[in-house]
Amino acid sequence: MDLGIRGRKAIVAGASAGLGKSSALALAREGVEVLISARNKDRLVAAAAEIEDKAKIPVKWVVADHSTPEGRARLLASLPEPDILVITCSPPKWTPDFREVTVDDWQQALATGMIGPIELMKSTIDGMRSRKWGRIVNIMTLAARAPIDFRLLSGPPRSGLANYTVAMARSLAKDNVILNNILPGMHHTGGIRDRFRADRPGNTDSYEAEVQKIIDILRIPAGRFGEADDVGAFCALFCSEFANYTIGQSLIIDGGVHNSLF
Ligand SMILES: NC(=O)c1ccc[n+]([C@@H]2O[C@H](COP(=O)([O-])OP(=O)(O)OC[C@H]3O[C@@H](n4cnc5c(N)ncnc54)[C@H](OP(=O)(O)O)[C@@H]3O)[C@@H](O)[C@H]2O)c1
Repeated sequence: MDLGIRGRKAIVAGASAGLGKSSALALAREGVEVLISARNKDRLVAAAAEIEDKAKIPVKWVVADHSTPEGRARLLASLPEPDILVITCSPPKWTPDFREVTVDDWQQALATGMIGPIELMKSTIDGMRSRKWGRIVNIMTLAARAPIDFRLLSGPPRSGLANYTVAMARSLAKDNVILNNILPGMHHTGGIRDRFRADRPGNTDSYEAEVQKIIDILRIPAGRFGEADDVGAFCALFCSEFANYTIGQSLIIDGGVHNSLF
């Protein structure tokens, strides 16, 4: 299927690994000119080379932390008028005890998970609007919709972000600027492997054993974690011509844990 976005220009912020990288690859495979960003240069350069190799199209990169004004300025200077904006980050640290969540933790989580994405959208929406074409996808988290105490730094900032994007989606739809969100459940990514290691010091269980424990606790109907590409493909669809009448939706991709009849 041709998604009708060949030659469009995309920023994928937070794309040297995981769901962001998979989304950048899916867009590049559609012939989109992609600029990817992250904080760590080495992994970013490697990701750009990998995407180029797989998609056979040049991929630009810029080191930029989009939780900071400087990072956002650097990102936008590299591609000031994107047609497509995809934004994500790493899973924030887990919060087994709410008493240990500090003001600094909240400020960082809000800067990365809510304010950064909002400011990037604010800077790019007017251009999309004037060109009567734009697509924005925030890859956030299931915890934005299904609150859980050990994801306090992940869910609340992204619930705010979801509220903002759905409100904006309504006002921008008539100009063909389409905003949607993806709410991933558990997927094999570098970020989730890092979280398992960092948040369970002293735990000697293997990654596979940890994964199985979570599959059992969440009773994931698919019986496994998702792959990063399970999200990337839907992200590309939300960035496509076919999304023109799909406005302000928050799609859950979690192997079937959370669903509703309508
Ligand atoms: N994987 C899962 O199972 C899972 C579950 C629920 C929700 N999610 C959500 O899905 C999203 C993606 O997760 P993931 O597992 O794909 O993460 P990941 O593997 O850690 O990849 C995150 C990417 O974002 C970059 N990044 C992080 N913070 C950034 C910042 N401030 N500025 C620029 N780039 C930044 C990282 O590179 P640098 O570190 O070099 O910056 C990396 O390229 C997150 O919102 C996460 O909360 C994931």
